[in-house]
Amino acid sequence: MTAYDAAFARCAEQAGIDVLLVGDSVGTVVLGYDSTVPVTLDDMIHHTAAVARGAKHAHIIGDMPFGSYQTSDAEAVRSASRLVQEGRATSVKLEGGVRAADRIKAIVGAGIPVMGHIGVLPQTAGLGPGFRMRSNRERLLDDARAVQDAGAYAIVLEVVSGDLAAEITRELKIPTIGIGSGPACDGQVLVLYDLLGLYEQPPSFVKQYADFGTQAIRALEEFARDVASRKYPPPL
Ligand code: KIV
Repeated sequence: MTAYDAAFARCAEQAGIDVLLVGDSVGTVVLGYDSTVPVTLDDMIHHTAAVARGAKHAHIIGDMPFGSYQTSDAEAVRSASRLVQEGRATSVKLEGGVRAADRIKAIVGAGIPVMGHIGVLPQTAGLGPGFRMRSNRERLLDDARAVQDAGAYAIVLEVVSGDLAAEITRELKIPTIGIGSGPACDGQVLVLYDLLGLYEQPPSFVKQYADFGTQAIRALEEFARDVASRKYPPPL
């Protein structure tokens, strides 16, 4: 599950979820940007450290934001190190298959575990193919193998067609974690605010497990009414 702060990290752990991804989706669902592109490394460190303060034993994955690993292997290692040192991440995640393999290798070589991410890549989707389902078999298999061979310990498959996600899952030795890629992956991740009903434009594959948005509005209306009518606070 994704998490962005200490409060929800505590909730997720109490629900028995032991891997928390501090995704750069924080940019859209929490910070109000219309994509993940403006999210900075400092933003990610801030939110990863908050999750680390709330979680007692979860594995915490710090997402590497756009611009924090593209320039060079050295920059990628430096950014990943900051997520571990300042954000207290247990591992990091970055987007890309074949083209990201050298970066993954460099970060793993520095002793930091890496989760890969292929299929729809939100950081660059808006610059090219968009968010539609990925189904190019050769390309996805090449990307998946490149991520595994570079030393990643797991890989996210985002919006990959179900039969291909199943094939990649059979083919790889490392676990696949699906999002919008059907039931065959080894594990699943969703964006917390989508699942809780706190984000207005969740993707169509999301199952909304709660309607916190409506509950928050009701609670805030009641508070405002109580204050206006002097029902709250009671006399001391
Ligand atoms: O940023 C994020 O939340 C992610 C998940 C959608 C996998 O990368």
